[in-house]
Amino acid sequence: MKKDLLTIKDLTAKEIAELFSLTDKLKKNKAKFGQALFGKTLALIFQKPSNRTRVSFEVGMFQLGGHSLYLAPNEINLGVRESIADVAKTLSRYVDGIVLRTFEHKNCLEMSKAALIPVINGLSDFSHPCQALADLYTVQEKLKTLKGITLAYVGDGNNVCNSLIFICAKLGVNMNVGCPQGYEPDSGVLKEAQALAQETGGVINLFNDSSNAVKGADVIYTDVWASMGQEDEVKIRKEAFKNFQVNKELLSLAKKDALIMHCLPAHRGEEITGEVLDSRNAVVFDEAENRMHVQKAILIKLLGR
Ligand code: CP
Ligand code: NVA
Repeated sequence: MKKDLLTIKDLTAKEIAELFSLTDKLKKNKAKFGQALFGKTLALIFQKPSNRTRVSFEVGMFQLGGHSLYLAPNEINLGVRESIADVAKTLSRYVDGIVLRTFEHKNCLEMSKAALIPVINGLSDFSHPCQALADLYTVQEKLKTLKGITLAYVGDGNNVCNSLIFICAKLGVNMNVGCPQGYEPDSGVLKEAQALAQETGGVINLFNDSSNAVKGADVIYTDVWASMGQEDEVKIRKEAFKNFQVNKELLSLAKKDALIMHCLPAHRGEEITGEVLDSRNAVVFDEAENRMHVQKAILIKLLGR
């Protein structure tokens, strides 16, 4: 049966550990996997712009001996030129997997339901699972463990935040979310993750300020204040988030060597200062690179054989 990756919930903790261990192997011995997806094709349907997601999937597929096909917003015109289900059914006859970057998460569900091949969420308004997997892989790579680690997320309770909450709860990593009132992460995600964390030994805390969130944290993570599709809220969000910038002053409250993470693209001078983004502890480009390695592991697991 085909398997999708629409949210982190689609993976067990064991499957995540297996993905991370395959990622290690892919990083260490790229050549060994040069034919892993020989003859396979991946379609990338993107309704939003992208640098990392598109390029890392395309290059990753190439490095595995496969092929990829980028379908820009106007190409397929998803749901307008034809229904999502008809697109899914047609592509199932040609390609071996679909990466979908879209607005409403229900588009991912619709695509997954109709497709006979694996569907990977390359970002929806609700979640960004490939990002969260690369992020926690990066934390483990840098800190050598995930045990007892606290990740502080400062900013908007958005798609990236939702996925980080799910993965931290799954892996027993403590997470502090600091966001303004009215910009909290999805309440269902939070409730479910808090219950799951009790079983895995982690704690998920929500704060309406940034200082309490970063206190004692090993990792400080942030993302843009206005996500793709929220362009007309930029002004109002700048005001709402003004006390949630990741800057030197805020970092003085975290652990001395706390890692700085950002999914990118970053808006320097808004959610993070250029000084912090360029600082010694920032691992944002290693994090971006790991998108490709982790996604290669995902592709092998879902499209292989
Ligand atoms: N982090 C991320 O998904 O980047 P892109 O939007 O450039 O793909
Ligand atoms: N939250 C951001 C993430 C970009 C990778 C967005 O959805 O635009």
